[in-house]
Amino acid sequence: MEQLVQIVIFGASGDLAVRKLVPALLALARKDAANLQLVGIARRPFTDEAFRAGLRERLDPEEREAFAAFAHRVHYVQGDAGADLGPLSSRLDELAGGAPAGRLFYLSLKPDLFVPALENLGRSGLLQGEPWRRVIIEKPFGHDLASARALNGTLHQVAREEQIYRIDHYLGKETVQNLFAFRFNNAIFEPLWNRRHIELVQITVAEELGVEKGRAGYYDEVGALRDMVQNHMLQILALIAMEPPSSLDPETLRDQKVAALKALRFPATDPAVRARYAAGTAEGRPVPGYLQEEGVGPDSAAETFVALRAEVANWRWGGVPFLLRHGKRMPKRFTEVKVQFRVPPIQLFDGCGGTPSADGLECQLRPNHLTLSIQPREAMSLGFGVKVPGPGMVMAPAELAFDYRDRFGASTAPAYERLLLDAIHGDPSLFLRNDEVEAAWSAVDAIRSQPLLEYPAGSWGPPEADRLFHGCEGGWSRG
Ligand code: BG6
Repeated sequence: MEQLVQIVIFGASGDLAVRKLVPALLALARKDAANLQLVGIARRPFTDEAFRAGLRERLDPEEREAFAAFAHRVHYVQGDAGADLGPLSSRLDELAGGAPAGRLFYLSLKPDLFVPALENLGRSGLLQGEPWRRVIIEKPFGHDLASARALNGTLHQVAREEQIYRIDHYLGKETVQNLFAFRFNNAIFEPLWNRRHIELVQITVAEELGVEKGRAGYYDEVGALRDMVQNHMLQILALIAMEPPSSLDPETLRDQKVAALKALRFPATDPAVRARYAAGTAEGRPVPGYLQEEGVGPDSAAETFVALRAEVANWRWGGVPFLLRHGKRMPKRFTEVKVQFRVPPIQLFDGCGGTPSADGLECQLRPNHLTLSIQPREAMSLGFGVKVPGPGMVMAPAELAFDYRDRFGASTAPAYERLLLDAIHGDPSLFLRNDEVEAAWSAVDAIRSQPLLEYPAGSWGPPEADRLFHGCEGGWSRG
């Protein structure tokens, strides 16, 4: 029999647990990927049966069948982050029935409960034992460099770094992993992957959604920079900018990401533009501004849009702008990396072949670009110029394109499924190490205090964000 794995979810009746974690565990159980038991722990006084029934009700109808087959492996212990964990410990032993069990503690908790929960886990001895004990924590890992260091300090008092899995769900996305695979498995691009050939790199995460129901309490404390840039977007940047690792060993790989993040620098003046959405439209319907969202206070200082210009100050990238933009309530949802190559040193050809230039670039100077679309399209394209048939030498833009769905069919495992399986297998490659989190915070701390502007919901953000392109060709991608 395959080794038993007990997944303990703190905050088991919360939104993340129900929407992401339980479905991911069901998928793993259905695929027989691991011999799992799920033990939920939360404050409310449920029996196992009541907990199961509550979960079942909140799952998507198509997941209920898988749940019926798995339900006997779902259990519940009443408690909270600060409570005596003795009952949890006895229950886990009892459920293992004397068999050795790996234990994964998932802290799906509000950030202010991380430290008490970790200290409590440490005191209870639950993080010691054979064959392994691991703990997963969700962002935010602190709210600035100092608090991230303090959190890492607490973590290291109760567990060894190799037991700690800091999750960033973007690293569970196939298309994000492909940034790394694509770079280091295709020798044709690597010689071009530097400041001699690349003019700029744009990374966009645009969302059509505003602040979702029930999230304002969290979001208003953090804002877009901490919610998306410090973690997901800087991870994408690290994968684009890192040096090739000499192996896939998790530490070697993460060393290179840390080195890229540590090299981040920002212009001394106007490195970023921060803004929040005002009333406008989404999907053709009027929507309120951020300040009118339920749960947002009138004196809110949170941004829902941020655009910034960074540089990775090393020999490969020195002088190449990395332009990052994220916003809620933008006209459409897309996540993309666009690598723009330098234009030829002299211009020999004419015109646009009658095709107007959508992005406002001078056609004959249209740079080559490589676009890595992460979501919702999962695709890559290489843009170049071709001669328009006919007299003269007139150029028009063309593309070589690849689409995941065309090549591999329907989409693959969701991010949480992949990441949970890696944590069960003890592979931390797609999780964040302490120094990685701290390097990302140092970067974000450097640009936090920009004035707060406004943009109408359903627009591409404030026009001030365009000035971050100064000295470069082109403008922000529209996906
Ligand atoms: C989360 C943020 O980490 O990522 C949310 O807290 C954001 O605000 C979400 O909407 C976006 O994730 P995805 O996978 O939908 O791009």
